[in-house]
Amino acid sequence: MLRFQKLKQGMIVGSLWLAMLGIPAGASAEPNLNNGKRLYKKHCLMCHGLKGEGRFGPNLTDNFWLYGNTTADIIKIVTEGVPDNGMVRWEGKLSETGIVDVVGYVESLKGSNPPHAKAPQGKEYPD
Ligand code: HEC
Repeated sequence: MLRFQKLKQGMIVGSLWLAMLGIPAGASAEPNLNNGKRLYKKHCLMCHGLKGEGRFGPNLTDNFWLYGNTTADIIKIVTEGVPDNGMVRWEGKLSETGIVDVVGYVESLKGSNPPHAKAPQGKEYPD
């Protein structure tokens, strides 16, 4: 019973999250990290570094974020980009599922502390 309630809560939170992101109900928001990694290497590595350590673009592995640290914040920035500052707008270039996958992969790099990391940019979000 408890387990069921937990599951139900998770489902409600899950579908709220989906609605917030504009993902049609029924689509899976569970990121596919293998696909995310593949997309990251293909599209993000050149600016954010092989391990997310930052290069032209910011370090994606630390606790400092220019545009916020929640999954929704990261999905928003990846979707809309900041064309004036050199961050590509990925909407239309990657599918919604692709964006969820690549953001899941970026989130998996958090705290990995790669060598040659770029100096922090933005605001610190403590754990
Ligand atoms: C052509 C270079 C370039 C590419 C390619 C690129 N980015 Fe960026 N990205 C940037 C720059 C530059 C910024 C910082 C924008 C600013 O200063 O306003 C940024 C910012 C970001 C941020 C926000 C970081 C923060 O501190 O809030 C995220 C997340 C991000 N990029 C993810 C990605 C992902 C995922 C991809 C691949 C799908 C990608 N970027 C591809 C250059 C790039």
